[in-house]
Amino acid sequence: RTGTRVERLPLSRFTTLGVGGEAEVWFVESPEGLAEAMERPYRVLGGGSNLVVSDAGVPERVIRLSGPLAERDLTPDPALSTPECVVTGWVGGGVPLPGLVRQLQKLGLSGLEGTVGIPAQVGGAVWMNAGTRYGEMFDGLHTVEIVTPEGTRQVTPDELPWGYRQSGIPRNHVVTRVRLSLTVSTPGAVLARMDLADQARKGQPKMKTPGCAFKNPGGVSAGKLIDDAGLKGTRVGGALIAPEHANFIVNLGGATAADVHALLDIIRARVGVPLELEYELWP
Ligand code: FAD
Ligand code: EPU
Repeated sequence: RTGTRVERLPLSRFTTLGVGGEAEVWFVESPEGLAEAMERPYRVLGGGSNLVVSDAGVPERVIRLSGPLAERDLTPDPALSTPECVVTGWVGGGVPLPGLVRQLQKLGLSGLEGTVGIPAQVGGAVWMNAGTRYGEMFDGLHTVEIVTPEGTRQVTPDELPWGYRQSGIPRNHVVTRVRLSLTVSTPGAVLARMDLADQARKGQPKMKTPGCAFKNPGGVSAGKLIDDAGLKGTRVGGALIAPEHANFIVNLGGATAADVHALLDIIRARVGVPLELEYELWP
């Protein structure tokens, strides 16, 4: 009735690092299905692009927004849009961000092009306000719908204490859908800004990875700090500190979560300043 499908699956299939043991994955397609999934301890899985999941998996239900919760309606809302600014219909939390960014570029709508190259889902990218110096998720949001076991609320960005790599939305509060607020531009102009943001990625490794391991402390590149500590190329088992960019740990094939944890410990011990993890460690 709710459309939910439940399957025990290796989470390595859902993480960009390609690591993670089994869990019960709940592919949730409706608000009713989501409410049912939230009746027991759960975690929320987006694009799996910021996750280091234990080789033993996790005991909680893993919720993945699917079906209608991964669909988008980019039609301008006539009541909220103006000739300069489009407010869209609802975009599901399970929508893959890269395809959405490409689609907005083709429509000549500006606001999210700075996030090009981030392999997240919309919900995960909003939850941590993913971005680059060319723009972040909160640049293009009008309304965020958040579901908890206690109920559903819709908030505007100014009601959240968002900032660099944080939305202020508590863990396990599920971003089910958003409305986007975008500036009317042209496909060419949006593409030019996308290309700039893309250029900044040229030095990033192409292998399996969960992106940057640590947040930049006080605007300094954590990658530069790890590089200056002489750690590029350090390897534990199948995990390597990328020679291209020291804030990326890559899976050479056969890496385990324990290998990645060992590298994180080495980095913390060798870099002189305290670093805040950007990854999510499960559990
Ligand atoms: P997941 O990795 O699946 O989950 C991360 C966290 O978000 C978890 O706590 C999870 O519970 C929560 N979450 C997921 N979905 C939802 C939801 N619907 N509602 C509530 N919470 C949810 N990040 C940047 O900011 N800038 C970059 O330039 C960047 N470049 C990257 C490049 C590569 C190659 C890779 C692999 C990663 C990069 N990242 C970057 C990191 C990553 O893409 C972001 O952290 C992104 O926000 C993670 O989103 P996700 O959907 O994959 O979430
Ligand atoms: N640098 C080094 N050695 C390294 C890495 C970087 O010397 O190993 C130097 C670079 O030469 C450059 C400076 O540090 O002078 C900044 O490097 P870069 O442009 O790569 O940016 P960053 O601050 O290291 C940030 C984000 C990335 C985002 C890029 C591009 C964080 C933690 N990282 O990296 O986001 O893609 O800018 O905008 O904020 C992520 O968060 O997962 C992520 C990949």
